[in-house]
Amino acid sequence: MQEEQIFEAYGPESGTSYRLSLALASAFPGKAVVAIAETFDLETYARAGGCTATPRATPHAQIEAGWRRNQGLWHSVVSGVFDVRWKEHDLVVAHARWVEGYRPTTSWFVIGGDRAVVDDFTSATCEFCNEPREAVLAFRGGCWQRDGEIYKAIQAASFEDLVLSGDMAREIRDDFASFLAAKAEYAKYQVPWKRGVLFVGPPGNGKTHCLRATIKMLDVPCLYVQSLKSRYETDDANIARVFDRAREVTPCCLVFEDLDALITADNRSLFLNQLDGFANASGMLTLATTNHPERLDPAILDRPSRFDRKYHFALPRAAERGRYITQWRERLDPAMRIEDAQVEALVASTEGFSFAYLKELFLSSMMRWIKTREECAMATVLDSQLQTLREQMKTDASPTPQAAATAEPLFDFP
Ligand SMILES: Nc1ncnc2c1ncn2[C@@H]1O[C@H](COP(=O)(O)OP(=O)(O)OP(=O)(O)O)[C@@H](O)[C@H]1O
Ligand SMILES: [Mg+2]
Repeated sequence: MQEEQIFEAYGPESGTSYRLSLALASAFPGKAVVAIAETFDLETYARAGGCTATPRATPHAQIEAGWRRNQGLWHSVVSGVFDVRWKEHDLVVAHARWVEGYRPTTSWFVIGGDRAVVDDFTSATCEFCNEPREAVLAFRGGCWQRDGEIYKAIQAASFEDLVLSGDMAREIRDDFASFLAAKAEYAKYQVPWKRGVLFVGPPGNGKTHCLRATIKMLDVPCLYVQSLKSRYETDDANIARVFDRAREVTPCCLVFEDLDALITADNRSLFLNQLDGFANASGMLTLATTNHPERLDPAILDRPSRFDRKYHFALPRAAERGRYITQWRERLDPAMRIEDAQVEALVASTEGFSFAYLKELFLSSMMRWIKTREECAMATVLDSQLQTLREQMKTDASPTPQAAATAEPLFDFP
């Protein structure tokens, strides 16, 4: 069979990868040409010093730039050929990006005289790029992208400043740590080594904060699903891509924030199917949050094999409000500090406040105090802000400041 016939059989779009491979094979006769998709990223590996990569001037290297106010300009070669030096080996890597069936597609081709070296280099690069360092992978618009902003938010989170009722923080930490350490036990008793945990509760009580602190503690690759919608792909196709990628990097944690907004009647069936699919799901830790459990189908909420454990993040009771307000008092500048009696009064008068509202109370009071410092004591400012926020809580249809904020993207995307 002639190569052109094979290409014709693929069709003009899905044959791009075949054609590229063919072109590279004839440009590098006698060498192995191996294609690898998204798990590979030469630039990340080279930036970290794993190898050197020098883009060739010909064929034309397509360079794209990005810009951010605080970071300035950065560049990336989105299509081009690199000369690579890895250990004592010389290799060539080609990068190509095109649109296939409306979906942007990226492929890398690793080229070398010795197939074993090609495979070792590919494997070392993939291993490095999928370690839980530098960035988290976020799924949106139908594809995975490395996301340094989410990574930073995770690195900034800690259990230290999280106030949870009773022993919940310790339970959560032990739960995940013991799951990851128990691979051998699961295998011994032939129980699938996978776990699903759901954080449930009204807005602003620490689900996202705890999720980030947990991910940071786990130190396994994190895959963060932000949307299952994309312009040209069905939700089902995207769900399949999400789980396929997660299976490639296990043990890992797969995160679905605001699960009730992601899973609908139309895509639920495949989602459940993938969660249940024991095959190759070994080492998968699924973490999800919701503040609308009533919108989740009982098949998700109540079947233990899917989300085995639910942690409830309720509105803080007096004891938790006391701990949180005391934390704040300790952080305040001495000129703003409030008395013990005032802490107690605040605890009593903030019944029904979420942590996000309590935080807002302190932040807005500090700002007002700074403006009017000559005239008002901090306690007076706090009292007046408290009344304002109570009114806001009564009249505001969108329940808390945090809930309003989540209507916007959680993170600042590039
Ligand atoms: N239990 C808590 N202890 C300390 N700080 C908290 C706690 N809960 C929330 N906060 C603070 O309040 C803010 C909002 O919290 P977070 O985003 O975790 O809420 P959430 O439960 O995810 O809300 P939503 O359902 O709206 O997404 C964060 O700045 C967080 O640090
Ligand atoms: Mg949240």
